[in-house]
Amino acid sequence: MDSKSLINTERLPKHIAIIMDGNGRWAKQHGKHRVFGHRNGVQSVRECTEAAAELGVEYLTLYAFSTENWNRPALEVNALMTLLVETLGKEVDTLMKNNIRLKAIGDLSKLPKRTHKALLDGIEKTKDNQRMTLVLALNYSGKWEILEAAKQLAKDSKSGKLNPDDIDEEMFSNALTTAGIPDPELLIRTSGETRLSNFLLWQLAYSEFYFTAEFWPDFKKESLYKAILDYQNRERRFGKTSEQIIN
Ligand code: FPP
Repeated sequence: MDSKSLINTERLPKHIAIIMDGNGRWAKQHGKHRVFGHRNGVQSVRECTEAAAELGVEYLTLYAFSTENWNRPALEVNALMTLLVETLGKEVDTLMKNNIRLKAIGDLSKLPKRTHKALLDGIEKTKDNQRMTLVLALNYSGKWEILEAAKQLAKDSKSGKLNPDDIDEEMFSNALTTAGIPDPELLIRTSGETRLSNFLLWQLAYSEFYFTAEFWPDFKKESLYKAILDYQNRERRFGKTSEQIIN
């Protein structure tokens, strides 16, 4: 039996987050420039989005560009930004056909104008779609987001809009860029690296982590099914004992 048919669709993660890693090494393996790896990574983005929507996953968040990625050579940063504009331009129709809503998290105002515009256009066009939400993390960092939320809550406390003693987990979650989105139950990172790299630090507090040696351009539908099956074979205890979960 193939992996897809083994998945229990009653126990799907509602939200899957992915750190797409290994494009550069994949390109090197093929004797090509790093940008070739990113271009091939787009096909994996397509496949995973389609597979997740087909299964009934509600949110898919992809780490497409971190705050730290600006330190890469200008040529690579420019190529990534161009690739985003191109891909968004090409794929918005596919998102519409598949009833998928696009969202973005991160400090979007610092993106090049054309990338920012392509993104906002895509978000606006797809805003009423309901089958799945695809969240792109762009110029995103978990520490940045937590600091922004803390600043906002501090300002609201200072102005008398809220009492600091009332700040609880829910209020803090609602001050993050992911407000309204349930925390991911499953985090996937490709390419054999086992770091969090400043991704969704608050939201991943109770998530299951799945690491695979596959490079991102090799991570296709079947790879996603395997990750979900692995997740379904784990027991999520949230600090309780096994007996408490079973009973
Ligand atoms: C990590 O591989 C990948 C990125 C930093 C960029 C991911 C972007 C895409 C797949 C294309 C655009 C995406 C969308 C959503 C349209 P790496 O360069 O760090 O690889 P390495 O660790 O092997 O060097």
